[in-house]
Amino acid sequence: MGMSVTISAAAEQDAEQIFRLQYLCFQSEAALYGNYRIAPLVQTLDSVREEVASHCVFVARLGDEVVGSVRGRVAEDGAAVIGRLCVHPRLQGHGIGARLLHAVEAALVELGPQRFRISTGHRSEGNLRLYRRVGYETIGTSQGEDGVQLIVLEKQVTAETYATTA
Ligand SMILES: CC(C)(COP(=O)(O)OP(=O)(O)OC[C@H]1O[C@@H](n2cnc3c(N)ncnc32)[C@H](O)[C@@H]1OP(=O)(O)O)[C@@H](O)C(=O)NCCC(=O)NCCS
Repeated sequence: MGMSVTISAAAEQDAEQIFRLQYLCFQSEAALYGNYRIAPLVQTLDSVREEVASHCVFVARLGDEVVGSVRGRVAEDGAAVIGRLCVHPRLQGHGIGARLLHAVEAALVELGPQRFRISTGHRSEGNLRLYRRVGYETIGTSQGEDGVQLIVLEKQVTAETYATTA
């Protein structure tokens, strides 16, 4: 596409841009569910800061601007839980979301999870397509704290896919 969007690990000073980008990107999800209190919209800047400091967080940048982000962590049950994937509406549909997903998976794999887990609202067809395309399968449903019915998807970790030079 000729776009020089780069993917890299987030720094603590990116938290504010991630917070604002998340607020912008999840408006379309809020509209889809008629719920403007979905978790990504009510999360505070302090909470985003904490996650940027403690989770595995990646950003997509176009120049100095953060135009995409994703985060993940290994949960108590050993699954690497990925969430808050978002790409600026102006830049969606160019593969940035898939690149972010791959970057966070590759980093999380180093922490030794058996599988990746990701959840999305049951009406979010585009998200479901993206996750299935990269190998996720539905394992169940859950109810988010915000009341939205979620589809839970998982993918087994296969070392070959993420083989690094390390
Ligand atoms: C979900 C989200 C992060 C996806 O980001 P994205 O950068 O648009 O994702 P991709 O470009 O990798 O994939 C999206 C589509 O673009 C297509 N695409 C990917 N690369 C492409 C390219 N080079 N040229 C044309 N199309 C392309 C994909 O095939 C996909 O098509 P589909 O929707 O028909 O399946 C973005 O839509 C978003 O921020 N949504 C709002 C927040 C949200 O719901 N996040 C998920 C929470 S669970």
